[in-house]
Amino acid sequence: MTTQELVEQAADLLAGLDRLTVLTGSGISAESGVPTFRGEDGLWRRFRAEELATPGAFARDPKLVWEWYDWRRGIIVGVRPNPGHAVLARWEEVFPGFTLITQNVDGLHPLAGSRRLVELHGNIWKTRCTAEGVVEENREVPLSAIPPRCPRCGALLRPHIVWFGEMLDRDVLRQALEAGSSCEAMLVVGTSSFVHPAASLPLAAAERGAPVVEVNTAETPLTHLAAVSIRGPAGEVLPRIDEALCSRRKRGAPRRSRRGPSPS
Ligand code: APR
Repeated sequence: MTTQELVEQAADLLAGLDRLTVLTGSGISAESGVPTFRGEDGLWRRFRAEELATPGAFARDPKLVWEWYDWRRGIIVGVRPNPGHAVLARWEEVFPGFTLITQNVDGLHPLAGSRRLVELHGNIWKTRCTAEGVVEENREVPLSAIPPRCPRCGALLRPHIVWFGEMLDRDVLRQALEAGSSCEAMLVVGTSSFVHPAASLPLAAAERGAPVVEVNTAETPLTHLAAVSIRGPAGEVLPRIDEALCSRRKRGAPRRSRRGPSPS
């Protein structure tokens, strides 16, 4: 099947729905210039996660960990959201029950205008006081002090990011599970579907009978479960799906609520 035929199939599945949940990974930001994690030049090919993205690594050497985050912030501050981010921000108006769940900490979805957003793994532009737990925005690039300290109590600040071996924030996880269990369809964009609990969201949706549409430049463990899997860069494929949806709306495709899977 051609990419356009798959795009049309995806649009047929999504057209007229109310409750669409989208899950994104670092692949959606690749065209903006943000490195992925496991791709050819991915972060985990160049750096050892256990030395930089675990509570143990931070306890051992907070300066080294912050130097790495300062470097990543230096990359991200210079990039912009791409057409893939823009389509998902616009879809908040198209699908009444729209939720965007992202694993990305780069802040490009909110920058593109996404508001109905669940940031599962935190945000690189936020810090958390290790003593008081206060979370604050910090956009200083480069950081003037490494490691940065809490302006109130002087304790170490840490990136407000979920590290390997850490639990997700309970409220954030609850929002994601709710959006995953009530959606009529799930669109999964630019993730290798390895890291849980994020990777379990589309599995649970598919098990419930909600169709999964995947957009990725490569096959993933989710591909065989997807109703439609489109090979291509998100920044090109998402606008094509959006265009196909627009033409269905113009043709007056009726709004429909899928009779199929009821929210579990
Ligand atoms: N468009 C669509 N997909 C793309 C693109 C693109 N332009 N470029 C790369 N991809 C795909 C890759 O084929 C791969 O499947 O995006 C995926 C990126 O996978 P990873 O690098 O593993 O990133 P991600 O899935 O977001 O990682 C999940 O792991 O390291 C932790 O907490 C970190 O949130 C992260 C989590």
